[in-house]
Amino acid sequence: MTKQAEKTPIAILISGRGSNMTALLEACAKPDYPARVVLVLSNRPEAPGLEIARQYGVPTEVIDHKLYGRDRESHEKAIDHCIRESGATLICLAGYMRVLTPYLVRQWSGRMLNIHPSLLPAFPGLHTHEAALQAGVKEHGCTIHLVTDGVDEGPILAQARVPVRTDDNADRLAHRVLEQEHRLYPEVLAQFIEKKKESL
Ligand code: GAR
Repeated sequence: MTKQAEKTPIAILISGRGSNMTALLEACAKPDYPARVVLVLSNRPEAPGLEIARQYGVPTEVIDHKLYGRDRESHEKAIDHCIRESGATLICLAGYMRVLTPYLVRQWSGRMLNIHPSLLPAFPGLHTHEAALQAGVKEHGCTIHLVTDGVDEGPILAQARVPVRTDDNADRLAHRVLEQEHRLYPEVLAQFIEKKKESL
């Protein structure tokens, strides 16, 4: 059993549904898992994932990007402050749908993970399942990577592959990719922490 105090404190950033967040919360509830969630933060007050996090008894915060207009850096300074206050030493982006500025990326360099629903470097950005179908690829999937300045460009930690079926549509494909996301993210986070424990 990993003592609570020995578990790495993490913050999860979301913008919406929060199913990857839930997968991480479930993993963190296990006695031997090396992380504990100290904060779930959303840039959208209406994100359904916030209520799920509350049900897990995890502190939640909303830092609404709309209140900051075009000043992305001030928004991120508020986020950074909140995360530091929570005691988190690692950030997991889990469906956080804002492009980050170099400010937050550099504050958390090497300590911020993202999950993306494609086999990067293929299909960065949005609407990845539609793009994969349109391109006619035989395999699609998801990627966990470290966050760097370039969008969806950071060093890849792991990928999971999903065969594309001839009768697929974007919803069916997204569903099968999401199942892999939920399996992969907790697994890769645990491996990452075990490897980097001394520097977190
Ligand atoms: C997930 O598929 C995640 O990979 C994707 O958004 C979805 C969020 O779902 N993330 C991105 O596209 C990031 N660029 P969730 O809120 O249920 O985890």
